[in-house]
Amino acid sequence: MNNSVNDYHPPYNAIISGHGSFIPDKILTNDDLAKMIDTSDEWITSRTGIKKRHITNDNESTALLATEAAKNALERANLDPKDLDLIIVATVTPEMVFPSTANFVQAAIKANNAWSFDLAAACSGFVYALSIAQQFIENGRYKNALVIGAETLTKITDWTDRASCILFGDGAGAVILERGKENQKGIMYSSMYADGNGWEVLNCQAYGSRYPSSKKLDDPKKIYMQIKGREVYQQAIRRIVETVNHCLDHCGLTIDDVDMLISHQMNARIIESAVKRLNLPDEKIFININEYGNTSSASVPIAFDECASQGRIKKGDIVVLVAFGAGLTWGANVIEF
Ligand code: UT7
Repeated sequence: MNNSVNDYHPPYNAIISGHGSFIPDKILTNDDLAKMIDTSDEWITSRTGIKKRHITNDNESTALLATEAAKNALERANLDPKDLDLIIVATVTPEMVFPSTANFVQAAIKANNAWSFDLAAACSGFVYALSIAQQFIENGRYKNALVIGAETLTKITDWTDRASCILFGDGAGAVILERGKENQKGIMYSSMYADGNGWEVLNCQAYGSRYPSSKKLDDPKKIYMQIKGREVYQQAIRRIVETVNHCLDHCGLTIDDVDMLISHQMNARIIESAVKRLNLPDEKIFININEYGNTSSASVPIAFDECASQGRIKKGDIVVLVAFGAGLTWGANVIEF
């Protein structure tokens, strides 16, 4: 495993002082999908654990979801937006090609003293973004960062492709990362990975520079997400297990020290297989894919917000966030909450 710096002790700790989420009201159930394509609630539930997903309407965009999640996180942290130094929005369904979705959020919440940018790492976007914000807080450069995962995946979903359209939903989650007091550990360690050779198994190819909107597409389906689910399945399990084990080793922790594992919600069966290999009991895993489907970069912060709001994690607990997704990308953050 790479990027281990065992003897690094940052001057400051980065703690999560607020969390929030925003979910669109409109719901699409498995039974609704069964009226649109050749599928069934039984097939979707047994293969993925998904029962429904929330979907945006035409007036709901990624920046809107991100802004509402940010407001909730700021309120919980009791932080004035003017005290934010940095805003990162992890997304692969941005508001526009440019400017960044993060800039729309910055304007909407009036975070006049923050700089802001988007990060594209698909389902690993939030854990990637958290590890970047962590660096700025730990080295003392900044005091407060807002990290958001926000997606409107249903706007790039091919509703005729039963292999993919059953999986995805929309939503946003956010956390405030603050400089902590000396006795608060906060984010103890983050470890991120990528393998660009695996880009073909999960992607949305139009409209970037390879397939610009000014040219007719050779395959009109390139405007939609395309996935080779089978090829992702086993690798996701393997990467989650090895990344979590590496992070625990690095922190001098064992699996028994973990109070809660919050995985990217890509498929309940993938998460269950991974936690079985990790030897984690069911009560230490948070799963909410049944309600939201796969919301890519939004899934970890939405799950974190729900988990914390439900009192399933308390101050001092060891929480591991882990994600795997398109790119390929994967990574984990170990947090003392
Ligand atoms: O966050 C990272 C992104 N997430 C992923 O990439 C998801 C990872 N992969 C998965 O979750 C699973 O591979 C899926 C849930 C997507 C698919 O499950 P699977 O067990 O790997 O199914 P499969 O693609 O191998 O297809 C098995 C059968 C096929 O029929 P035949 O060829 O055996 O007759 C499919 O045509 O199931 C059929 N099928 C469906 N049947 C009913 C595929 N999708 C559906 C459907 N309803 N929605």
